[in-house]
Amino acid sequence: MNDTSRAGGAASLDVSIASKDYHSASGRPLRALEDLRLTLPAGQAGAVVGPSGCGKTTLLRLICGLDTDYVGAIALPEHGRLGMVFQEPRLLPWRTVIDNIRIAAPHARAEEIAALLDELGLAEHATHFPRELSLGLARRVALARALAVKPDLLLLDEPLVSLDAALAKDLREMIARLIDERRITTLIVTHDLREAIALGDRLFLLSTQPAHVVATIDVPTPRRALERETAERLETQAREALAAARAEVSLRQKDPRRTH
Ligand SMILES: Nc1ncnc2c1ncn2[C@@H]1O[C@H](COP(=O)(O)OP(=O)(O)O)[C@@H](O)[C@H]1O
Ligand SMILES: [Mg+2]
Repeated sequence: MNDTSRAGGAASLDVSIASKDYHSASGRPLRALEDLRLTLPAGQAGAVVGPSGCGKTTLLRLICGLDTDYVGAIALPEHGRLGMVFQEPRLLPWRTVIDNIRIAAPHARAEEIAALLDELGLAEHATHFPRELSLGLARRVALARALAVKPDLLLLDEPLVSLDAALAKDLREMIARLIDERRITTLIVTHDLREAIALGDRLFLLSTQPAHVVATIDVPTPRRALERETAERLETQAREALAAARAEVSLRQKDPRRTH
């Protein structure tokens, strides 16, 4: 029913999901995604923005192969090596920071891991255990672990959620710098439009459930030099696209013969 090509796949990430249904205990299917299409060119950062519960994590789980029960096709960037940062850092609690990274990336050289720890401000925490880390630090370790495998595609699920404003800003700048320097094809999922504009080269705006992409907006580069005025214009453009999509949904509900 689905087709995920990994080895030697396309340079870009190409997602075309006809449908993804969950089957609840009551037997009633819940359609999480429908006709969701997106293309992310190699080396770009894509930001998927949508309201809570619309299907963002579901989409990431399909892309990273944790869930194969869907109808459609996903073509991963060349070689298809994935780095995934979940919303919860998911570190092994009985292993130190450095061992968490070593286990995930057994082929990474010691100097590479040391450089990564340094770059992410984690050097002094290398021998700490996850329980000794704040959420912000644990997220950084999860990010270091994902980068250590030298991914062809980096997937980040709400990387800044639940952090206070100052920590979120630090981590956002760190992520922006890392993905800019490494030019890794990256897909970031967030419910926060401003965060998406700050991190993405290309924005994919999702509808409410079942999620599909209602608009794709390219952020003018260089992204890090984005002026406030441009960011505000993009925000207005995105909000208008989302409002138009909502209006279309309510028209369709009144007249079900309309299609999107
Ligand atoms: N394993 C599951 N079984 C049944 N329903 C699920 C499952 N995972 C997610 N859902 C439902 O699918 C929808 C999308 O969830 P999710 O992808 O987690 O949204 P988001 O990440 O955008 O908040 C929600 O209605 C959620 O309740
Ligand atoms: Mg989620």
